[in-house]
Amino acid sequence: MQQSKGAVADLSVRAEGVLPSAWVRRWADAIRPGGRVLDVAAGNGRHSLYLASRGLRVTAVDRDISALRARASETIQVRQADLEEVPWPFAAAQFDGIVVVNYLHRPLLPHLVASLAPDGLLIYETFMMGNARYGRPRNPDFLLQRNELLMLAPGALTVLAWQQGYRASPGPAMVQRLAARRSPAHAMMPPPRQTSPS
Ligand SMILES: C[S@@+](CC[C@H](N)C(=O)[O-])C[C@H]1O[C@@H](n2cnc3c(N)ncnc32)[C@H](O)[C@@H]1O
Repeated sequence: MQQSKGAVADLSVRAEGVLPSAWVRRWADAIRPGGRVLDVAAGNGRHSLYLASRGLRVTAVDRDISALRARASETIQVRQADLEEVPWPFAAAQFDGIVVVNYLHRPLLPHLVASLAPDGLLIYETFMMGNARYGRPRNPDFLLQRNELLMLAPGALTVLAWQQGYRASPGPAMVQRLAARRSPAHAMMPPPRQTSPS
């Protein structure tokens, strides 16, 4: 059966929502085997499922858990939280891996770093400036500036791999991708204090 270009693009977009990101697949096995992973803004849980299939214990958090609820299992703990309204809910936890895909709320970034266990791995992929040409998001608040992920925490993270620019698949977009390990020297730093809005 022949498919029009539009149909192919549509399939790519759907694949993006269902299949785990290639970046997550590339780096998931670099997380401590059997370790604990936080899937931030987990959406429908496509990454939670993948991480659990790799033998990791997953906490999946999202503001809207209507799709995620069905993923709850012995290895996937589902947690509802509005990460932009409440104090960081995982301040007391330490994760061997933290995965963030297609989500950006800048005030959370230091908390993500602080919630990594010694040698914990941060796997991050999201849209950057220039993405408006290809689709959503277009709001600069949700688009990384040039090199922004790379500069996330130069003292606390050791960058293992880093990419930025045009991505053709699963759909055209401008993205940044980071895989970075928490440096042991900073592993015992206390998490940043978070103040509540007055
Ligand atoms: C584009 S989806 C990405 C989902 C998932 N990471 C993935 O790659 O499939 C963005 C997700 O962020 C979640 N989200 C947006 N604002 C949020 C907030 N304030 N707190 C928690 N989750 C939020 C949405 O509910 C949605 O599931």
